[in-house]
Amino acid sequence: MKSIIELNAGLKKQIDEIAEVAGYLWQRGWAERNGGNISVNVTDLIPEEAKSFASLQQVKLPKAFNIIANNYFYVTGTGKRMRYVATKPMENGAIIRLNETGDAYDIIADQLVIPTSELASHLSMHSYMREFRDPNMKVVCHTHPTDLIALTHNKRFLEPNVMARILWSMIPESRIVVPRGIGIVPYNVPGTMELADATILELEKHDVVMWEKHGTLAVGDDIIETFDMIDTLSKSAQIYLLSKQAGFEPEGMTNQQLDDLVDLFNLPE
Ligand code: 13P
Ligand code: ZN
Repeated sequence: MKSIIELNAGLKKQIDEIAEVAGYLWQRGWAERNGGNISVNVTDLIPEEAKSFASLQQVKLPKAFNIIANNYFYVTGTGKRMRYVATKPMENGAIIRLNETGDAYDIIADQLVIPTSELASHLSMHSYMREFRDPNMKVVCHTHPTDLIALTHNKRFLEPNVMARILWSMIPESRIVVPRGIGIVPYNVPGTMELADATILELEKHDVVMWEKHGTLAVGDDIIETFDMIDTLSKSAQIYLLSKQAGFEPEGMTNQQLDDLVDLFNLPE
């Protein structure tokens, strides 16, 4: 049987990029077993002939997502390993279509892969981005970066703006690549709507959110860019932790040095 991605070059390119990033998540050591999940709104890339594909399974959602009704998403499968998403994205993820009221979805391709346990959370974020941020924001990428998670185990870093200020000040790139800072979400059980709702509040101001003692989540237009944001913050976290291990407090860039970047790189205030 032909894969849906063979029917549209744009869709194939998108899935190839997801697979590329899944490989990076694994190589970075952020994706133990089935750790992490990815979803991308691929509605504009679905070939006409695939719209009549039979449903492999219909699943009810815990609430109606009417803003993204009839939209299509690629989502990684629950329990699936990123290292295998990297090599076989259509065997470790699926394309789903929300129904006309947005309260259920059909798995339409290629195989009966059950979406991530965080699907309702991802869909709330897609719905929020479409309605209140920017309809071009099509990607939600959640992963478990060891160094960033370590920092969330210290309450001091969870105070407002502390995490962003420290990580920004380690290297100019952090200020430039993650200009909207970092949202902090207190610990909550993975996959719950409580975790999703708390995350959405942070997405008003930020593109990257840290989940206490769990992981990070980044949203954006482009899967590669979401990876880059987390990767850059991870580098800053490593510099911070390495300095501490070497026995000194890293000086960090000054407020003036950080502020100078805002004008120079035309960053959002
Ligand atoms: P899934 O395998 O259901 O996607 O869960 C992985 C995860 O990271 C939960 O937070
Ligand atoms: Zn997780």
